[in-house]
Amino acid sequence: MSLLHKINRDTAPRHIAIIMDGNGRWAQQQGEDRLFGHNFGVEAVRETLKAAQEIGVEYLTLYAFSTENWNRPKEEVDGLMDLLVRTISGEVEELHESNVIISSIGDTEGLPTSCKEELEAAFERTKNNTGINLILALNYSAKWELIRATKQIARLVKSGEIELDQVDDDMMASMLSTRGIPDPELLIRTSGENRVSNFLLWQIAYAEFHFTEVLWPDFKREHLYKAVLDYQSRERRFGLVSAQLEKNT
Ligand code: FPP
Repeated sequence: MSLLHKINRDTAPRHIAIIMDGNGRWAQQQGEDRLFGHNFGVEAVRETLKAAQEIGVEYLTLYAFSTENWNRPKEEVDGLMDLLVRTISGEVEELHESNVIISSIGDTEGLPTSCKEELEAAFERTKNNTGINLILALNYSAKWELIRATKQIARLVKSGEIELDQVDDDMMASMLSTRGIPDPELLIRTSGENRVSNFLLWQIAYAEFHFTEVLWPDFKREHLYKAVLDYQSRERRFGLVSAQLEKNT
């Protein structure tokens, strides 16, 4: 029986972030090249998005291409960019029909023109929707956005527009590429790797982590339900002790 009915929608995470890992190993297991794995990874994206919609998740952020991924073999990088363009252009109408808002985080200026154009068209097409926010992390790294934010703040201090003492949590958050987006409560990483790999370092300060052995192309709706149930079984203390949490409820 599906795990979906066990999920309490009232306490489900508003924002889930996923490090989709294991496409290469999955392809290798099938005796195929790495791009074969990435292609099958798209089906896992579809499944995950549907499951997130069923649960009532408001934001789903997917780590699709990191700044470090440029160092992969050229054939793989070109194939991934091509896959992104094909997937976005092929899926945008269906995503629009299901009320999805598409956006991205990361240094999209550094992406190939065809990719930028396809993304812009998808943002424009879906911007007035009211359903789940599908956020693609593209040419993204947390260190990149933290350095960029630090420089912006330093410039404001230097020009006298703000005082040094005004720099706080909210100001930092407003300078990140996730400004306006609530922090993820749940971070999932597939493929048995227990690392964060330069993803949303500021935003996951209080996130719960769910690591699974499942390789990304094998990730199905039930795997997302399982991760959400795991999250719902945890006590989130935000630096307090259990007794204080009980008193506040
Ligand atoms: C990590 O697996 C996966 C990526 C770097 C790319 C993710 C891309 C997709 C799932 C397809 C397109 C996505 C969208 C949103 C349209 P890996 O290659 O590092 O796997 P490995 O660790 O087994 O080598």
